[in-house]
Amino acid sequence: MSAQLSSADLTLRYPELGTGPVPTDIYWQPEFYERELDAIFRRAWLCLGRVEEIPEPGDYLVKEIQTFDMSILVVKGKDAEIRAFHNVCQHRGNHVELKPNGNCQVFRCPFHGWAYGLDGKLAGVPDAEAFYDLRREEKGLLPIHLDIWEGFIFINLSEQPDATLEEFLGEHGRDLVGYPFHLGTSTFEYQGVVKCNWKCMVDSFCETYHVPVLHKNSVTDTLAGPNNPFGRLIDVRLKGPHRTSSVVGNMSYQPNPVQGLAFQYAPGPSITSGNIDESVTLPKGLNETRADNWSLDSTVFFPNLIMVIGSGMYFTHQMWPLGPNEVVWQMRGYLRAASNAAQRFGQENSLVELRDAVLEDGNTLERIQRSLNQGLIKEFIFHDHELALRHHYHTVIEWVERYESVR
Ligand code: FES
Ligand SMILES: [Fe+2]
Repeated sequence: MSAQLSSADLTLRYPELGTGPVPTDIYWQPEFYERELDAIFRRAWLCLGRVEEIPEPGDYLVKEIQTFDMSILVVKGKDAEIRAFHNVCQHRGNHVELKPNGNCQVFRCPFHGWAYGLDGKLAGVPDAEAFYDLRREEKGLLPIHLDIWEGFIFINLSEQPDATLEEFLGEHGRDLVGYPFHLGTSTFEYQGVVKCNWKCMVDSFCETYHVPVLHKNSVTDTLAGPNNPFGRLIDVRLKGPHRTSSVVGNMSYQPNPVQGLAFQYAPGPSITSGNIDESVTLPKGLNETRADNWSLDSTVFFPNLIMVIGSGMYFTHQMWPLGPNEVVWQMRGYLRAASNAAQRFGQENSLVELRDAVLEDGNTLERIQRSLNQGLIKEFIFHDHELALRHHYHTVIEWVERYESVR
């Protein structure tokens, strides 16, 4: 079936979201930002990485959550269970592990040498008899709720999560089960700080109305083209607080000479080539309309993770807010392992093409934020195919209001 590109009817499927403009206060106000931290970032399940990063017992990751200036230790125990702890020694608060990753049998605090097992229990205290009130069983590392979905490690910073990870992901999670995420073992990462609100950054990856204009020299017409001059989407699906946009691939795209070579050798079709990997059976939630001119889905795991998934590779964007108008942006690509130098070349090409396109988004967002901060744009009017942005606005408002109403 071909993409439905002609009618402007996506938004009307969701009458509860309306069609009118939305006020822009929540995209810059410091006061609203503080409310979001409590209502959303301290309550939602947040992704920290993949299980392949810590395959062996004793493997660990130290993740810095810059939003809360918090250091978190994620570790695989002797029982193969993955656990998360605050990376905070219970003697006087030093960070227990300073390296970003590694393997160990015991964590030894570099201040006075208190030692913790992989299960977080206090395992050793130098000169223990000189303490008056040392109750070892109460002095383990502070645990953080952790659960795993399809190999992705999620944590929840609330004392008692309102929902399990499975409940939180709901239909959105169920509909993406089965994609071969585990094959993307060759990873690359970019990170930067962008002076914009975290929601604006999420939104920039959820519409392709801007692609034929902003990215005319980078993405060119791989996702749009003559049959889709305004960058319309195939479809948008809203599932709870999460959302998925299905993006058109221009099947008649003519690669430039470098791309011609690169696409030929990419291990799995390149994300910008529009090729479909026939060996991958897509789960229900990807290319949900089964359009034959599909290239990829941009799927948002509320609040701050976007997976951009094609049949041959996927990458993620994650946003960690630093303030109402500043965000850490992490982009991570997951490609299948290259088995020779030519494939590696194909991967490098994808990586550089993606980086160039995303930099165009970044500096546009900084200009938008200045306009918001100055009060020069009071409302956003959303195109029908910016439905994901409208849904984002309503979801944020709903989470904040619901949280505050039960406090
Ligand atoms: S703060 Fe860790 S051993 Fe003293
Ligand atoms: Fe973009």
